Amino acid sequence: MNKIIIGEHIVKSFGEGDEKHKVLDGVSAEINEGEFVAVMGPSGSGKSTLMFALSGMDSVDGGKVVFDGKNLSGLGEKELSDIRRTKMGFVFQQPTMLKNLNILDNIILPSVRDNRKNTTTISAKAKTLMKRVGIADLENRDITQVSGGQLQRAGICRALMNSPKILFGDEPTGALNSKSAHEIMDIFSEINAEGTAIMLVTHDANVAARTERIMFMRDGAILSEMKLSKFDGKDWDSRVEKVTMKMREIGI
Ligand SMILES: Nc1ncnc2c1ncn2[C@@H]1O[C@H](COP(=O)(O)OP(=O)(O)OP(=O)(O)O)[C@@H](O)[C@H]1O
Ligand SMILES: [Mg+2]
Repeated sequence: MNKIIIGEHIVKSFGEGDEKHKVLDGVSAEINEGEFVAVMGPSGSGKSTLMFALSGMDSVDGGKVVFDGKNLSGLGEKELSDIRRTKMGFVFQQPTMLKNLNILDNIILPSVRDNRKNTTTISAKAKTLMKRVGIADLENRDITQVSGGQLQRAGICRALMNSPKILFGDEPTGALNSKSAHEIMDIFSEINAEGTAIMLVTHDANVAARTERIMFMRDGAILSEMKLSKFDGKDWDSRVEKVTMKMREIGI
């Protein structure tokens, strides 16, 4: 199985002097190409920090991260941002979008700014993605005229504009009600089924139960892992139960 990410003994600290504390304490984590993984753990356990380290969004103090065969530590900011832009997609709890642009323009903005293809091609791609996630008719709306779930779909479209090899999501369903969260997870499952690897940070057993593997973190370390089969729509209750039991067992 080819690895899209290999993180070895990652150490990351924040603060200086007496205030300095280790947030990642020698974490090793790998993600296969096309894999769907979740990271769970208590608040402050280092989940977001791990995601930032594995995606090269943030530097590491020790250990190394190899992404798609390249050691990220050896790269400059320009090369890192090129990799992030062309091979990675990011979705956060609430998408940051510009208020003076409509939904479509917000989705295409980063691609237009890169100026690597013409605007017609870029818009066509955005419209295909919007249709796919069920927001085709919202392209001219302001970002204040759509629901949280619709805005998150737009955020997903924006993250998929460059057909990334991996999509990182930091609590992408955290601000949504359970119905919207479920629908967003359907979209993630479809994207994953088409071959894009996904790494999601989540507190929600229902979200984690959709993935293939869960890494459980505590105090800057991965405590344990749990493997699940690919989600095929069956066996839903038992998957959620399995995840919930594991969370209870390790006390998160
Ligand atoms: N830029 C930063 N400067 C200083 N400390 C930071 C910074 N980012 C994170 N931390 C600290 O690192 C620890 C881990 O933070 P992190 O955001 O990775 O936690 P998390 O597991 O994602 O938590 P949550 O579930 O609340 O999002 C916390 O104690 C946090 O305060
Ligand atoms: Mg976090």
